Amino acid sequence: MATPTLDKVDDAKPASVASPYITVTFRIRRFNPEISAEAEWQDFQIEIDPKERVLDGLHKIKWETDGTLTFRRSCAHGICGSDAMRINGKNRLACKTLIKDINPEKPITIEAIKGLTVLKDLVVDMDPFFQAYRDVMPFLITKGNEPTRERLQTAEERERFDDTTKCILCAACTSSCPVFWNDGQYFGPAAIVNAHRFIFDSRDEAGEQRLEILNDKDGVWRCRTTFNCTDACPRGIEITKAIQEVKRALITRRF
Ligand code: SF4
Ligand code: FES
Repeated sequence: MATPTLDKVDDAKPASVASPYITVTFRIRRFNPEISAEAEWQDFQIEIDPKERVLDGLHKIKWETDGTLTFRRSCAHGICGSDAMRINGKNRLACKTLIKDINPEKPITIEAIKGLTVLKDLVVDMDPFFQAYRDVMPFLITKGNEPTRERLQTAEERERFDDTTKCILCAACTSSCPVFWNDGQYFGPAAIVNAHRFIFDSRDEAGEQRLEILNDKDGVWRCRTTFNCTDACPRGIEITKAIQEVKRALITRRF
């Protein structure tokens, strides 16, 4: 009987796999008030898979090159709203922006969102933003005794404010608004979106109060309908439409 051989078995060599990594320049606007009163741009070259996100690149720099680089992030999946920044001149969430989608052949510019005071690098003071949010009373307000069962609502009634429930308070809209840049007193789109969410909720009974708050000189009439906010929203909320609905409710007092 012929002896079996394993002749061909070792011939199969692993095919060489092309590296997915490319070299990308992150041009980051750095600011550290303990070092200088001026912000300045700093370049970092990183090796990264273009299918990764800008947030991954920032982590790479922070963990491997410069631990002083300062930015906010938490969930890393587009839910917490903490990593809005200006990437190539446009407000985006770093955790939802793929390197391959923003022309990695050129330096990628990254800076803090506009209109809020920069505390360090990409971190801004969010207090004025959240104050405007608090001012519109973003919670259900009802009168009378507590009901003995849940407050019912039809599917159509729920639909009226469905879009504005999606807000994650990232401030990408408010900090892309030229009115807000020029005058930080304006409530801004995010506060109006969150007022809309309750004004048009059939279970809520403080719509009139919220409308009066937004009728203020720093309220909804300051909006110039530039659509910057709608373009910037990572949740795809039709912000300009929501603002128009609040304006209409103020005129007609129907909501
Ligand atoms: S409306 Fe959109 S852009 Fe504005 S804070 Fe909410 S999620 Fe962010
Ligand atoms: S880190 Fe939470 S939204 Fe980007």
